[in-house]
Amino acid sequence: MDVTEITRNYIYLFIVFLPAMIANGSPVVFKGKNPLDMGKNFIDGHRILGDGKTVEGFIVGILAGTVFGAIEAALAWNTRYIAIGFLGGLGAMLGDVAGSFIKRRLGYKRGHPVLILDQLDFALCSTVFYYLYDIEMNPISLLLIYVTIFLLHILTNRLAYKTGLKNVPH
Ligand code: CTP
Ligand code: MG
Repeated sequence: MDVTEITRNYIYLFIVFLPAMIANGSPVVFKGKNPLDMGKNFIDGHRILGDGKTVEGFIVGILAGTVFGAIEAALAWNTRYIAIGFLGGLGAMLGDVAGSFIKRRLGYKRGHPVLILDQLDFALCSTVFYYLYDIEMNPISLLLIYVTIFLLHILTNRLAYKTGLKNVPH
């Protein structure tokens, strides 16, 4: 595989993953109140997901991904991007929940930083949905996208912390 092909697929994947990134960031802006786990504990005595995962945030994330996908669809004149937006948003929100589930099982409280999991849980789950939707991805471009998302996540979360949008910088 040549550099041109890797670059082309990287740019395409960046556009495809943008709705998932928007979805992941939007609950931070529109914070919810009702925890998805309804305040319940798991069998290990720790919260199932914790107060950081709310119903409102989950829905807002899917909506934001879908709306952004619709904008991409209009710009690219290709309706596939609407589905990409929805699937990216849904995958991101499910991955985010899965990440918190794992963090709680490890005994970490809400907001405790876990490197890689915090930055990439949503992207990994979105990848599964995109793959099932036959999105073309080559391994090298995908790896570069993960590195990009990892760095962007750290940057945007620090910004959100500095502007008072988040209580913790991760
Ligand atoms: N959020 C939300 N609903 C979601 C996801 C996120 O309301 N489904 C909001 C919460 O206010 C949360 C913030 O977005 O605190 C940041 O999300 P995230 O960093 O994923 O959650 P944490 O608070 O760090 O919790 P965890 O330790 O479970 O990751
Ligand atoms: Mg966090």
